[in-house]
Amino acid sequence: MKPADPSLFDPITIGAVQCANRVMMAPLTRCRALAGSDAPHGLNALYYAQRASAGLIISEATQVMPEGKGYPNTPGIYSPEQEVGWKLVTEAVHAAGGKIFAQLWHVGAISHPDLQPDNRLPVAPSAINPGGNLYTQHGKRERVTPRALETHEIPAIVAAYQHAAALAKRAGFDGVEVHSANGYLLEQFIRDSSNHRTDQYGGSIANRLRLTLEVVDAVISVWGADRVGIRLSPVSPANGCKPDSNPQATYGTLVQELSARRLAYLHFIEGATGGERNLAGFDFAQARRNFGGVYIANNKYTREMAIAAVSNGSADAIAFGVPFISNPDLPRRLRLNAPLTLANSKTFYTAGPEGYTDYPALEADFVEV
Ligand SMILES: Cc1cc2nc3c(=O)[nH]c(=O)nc-3n(C[C@H](O)[C@H](O)[C@H](O)COP(=O)(O)O)c2cc1C
Repeated sequence: MKPADPSLFDPITIGAVQCANRVMMAPLTRCRALAGSDAPHGLNALYYAQRASAGLIISEATQVMPEGKGYPNTPGIYSPEQEVGWKLVTEAVHAAGGKIFAQLWHVGAISHPDLQPDNRLPVAPSAINPGGNLYTQHGKRERVTPRALETHEIPAIVAAYQHAAALAKRAGFDGVEVHSANGYLLEQFIRDSSNHRTDQYGGSIANRLRLTLEVVDAVISVWGADRVGIRLSPVSPANGCKPDSNPQATYGTLVQELSARRLAYLHFIEGATGGERNLAGFDFAQARRNFGGVYIANNKYTREMAIAAVSNGSADAIAFGVPFISNPDLPRRLRLNAPLTLANSKTFYTAGPEGYTDYPALEADFVEV
């Protein structure tokens, strides 16, 4: 007898982590850490605990060092206060039966002196202004031309990821996801549009992948590969990141390198982050075939698409972003084909509980119609 096709609602083992289902919570920046310390606090613990029925929660992006910050009130993962705050979060999620990975982040050029220590320039592979605007604690600002990192400064960045990974472990996370997507620092190094360096971190594909792989290796040294994942967005124009000249070759090589390291999962943003899924330039199905671990797919998945993708094998699990903001009990709603609450984008990045912890769960006695 042929075994049944896998279902979105089946359990899955990701590396060393057992997940109750394949409806994952995508990382979602909400700008609600404590001002000043950038530490998580009780409100954040409540928000994540409400969403603990996800197969796996991937935390909002967390900066691994002060220079990695690009928005007001995003949480850090480098100080003792932040460790205490994250412990509140992981304990609340575990008490509610969930699993949670920390997404480790450095924004690189996507910052502003207002958000940097001593109002310094943000750092990046090359002095290229990503363009566009951003919001700092002082209001709307134009992006600036960052300072190109000196070669001798790069080991300190790798060390910051390693330190953050160790802090995440002490804080009780189940693993970590390296944020190498959406035009932030690691992706700025990967793409030849944003990396014009002439040292060992620029030029050839191997050189442009060097920083990401050094970071991955540093994080693996703390956690073991079976508790490390990575997020990639090979064709996304997020944050003004111009296309790589050959995403298939560049990111295809990266997938091979990550498979050789036996990473627990690849988390792909298919297409433009939060937008058009069908962009040319990268064969996601081939990446799935070439990678030995779990493939988590994301971007604009509906219930129908997610059920089909898992049952036909094009993905092992699906990460949902915006739907998880307004539906804390998303797996149950998807299972019962219950109506979804629409998210209010006006409260994505505001302070306090409104639009954060006040979205209700479905009534306990809801029955499928
Ligand atoms: C409010 C908001 C915050 C986000 N923050 C992050 C983040 O911290 N890290 C990240 O990798 N992606 C982030 N994203 C992208 C989402 O994880 C996801 O890729 C995107 O929303 C598309 O998935 P969806 O259609 O299921 O929402 C964010 C998106 C939104 C709407």
